[in-house]
Amino acid sequence: MSKILTPISTIFFAHKPSLFPTISPFINPKIIFKFTTKSINNHNLITRAQTQSPIVNDSPTLPDLEDVMLGYMFGKKKATQIAHSVWKCVVQKGDAVIDATCGNGYDTLAMLKMVADRSQKGRVYALDLQDVALQNTRSLLDESLDDNEKELAELFATCHSKMEEVLPRNITVRLVAFNLGYLPGGDKTMITKSETTLLGLEAAERVVAPGGLISLLVYVGHPGGREEFETVQAFASRLPVDKWSCCKLEMLNKPLAPIIVFLFKR
Ligand SMILES: C[S@@+](CC[C@H](N)C(=O)[O-])C[C@H]1O[C@@H](n2cnc3c(N)ncnc32)[C@H](O)[C@@H]1O
Repeated sequence: MSKILTPISTIFFAHKPSLFPTISPFINPKIIFKFTTKSINNHNLITRAQTQSPIVNDSPTLPDLEDVMLGYMFGKKKATQIAHSVWKCVVQKGDAVIDATCGNGYDTLAMLKMVADRSQKGRVYALDLQDVALQNTRSLLDESLDDNEKELAELFATCHSKMEEVLPRNITVRLVAFNLGYLPGGDKTMITKSETTLLGLEAAERVVAPGGLISLLVYVGHPGGREEFETVQAFASRLPVDKWSCCKLEMLNKPLAPIIVFLFKR
């Protein structure tokens, strides 16, 4: 069990039957750090039986993306800014989304701002293998969000290959984001690995709704990073073109720069 405890957090075991009926008792995520005791089934989620029209927004977020894209091309903006801008074009208030590698919490925080509104229906499911990462994420959310927004974040100490076990039954999500590699400032041996990244991608393929997005930042400068990118690329290349639109953004003269990959589900 994690040692992380604070007064505002409630810890649930992920296999608690009333909350997570689909979670296997055999492969259960370790712990959930949860900001709320409210039902997690009352939000704006899409059941797998339902279809969802593509909702790529054309305003007002696209101007932001254009600026960020130009900035990226001219070396002034970072890959994470590109990712966040693209997410904003896809994610709506009230959506459910997954941060598959929450790390220090910056992506989780960005997602939370995208889904939060007064309906309180949005959810960010944030996963990481390391307790220190979950603690960092929770600290960032604590200091950056109001109480209502905090309730929309649910943190799980588990591998992203098990993301389906932390979702309420039969729901799909608008976004699954992977920011691969190791925790900045943390233990560099605790790194994402090709095998589990592939399992995570296969799970993401199943839980993303039509009109949703799988987003990846793949770091190729560390041992195993290039191989992991090849795994991601092979997975994306196999997705059927009538159901998925897949692309990558790669700096040609900076071979160690992160590669951005977007898999958009039609
Ligand atoms: C580059 S960091 C993520 C940065 C983070 N998104 C942020 O905004 O700060 C990668 C994270 O992936 C986590 N990780 C590694 N393998 C994982 C796995 N199989 N499942 C979930 N998280 C994993 C690491 O512990 C690390 O915190």
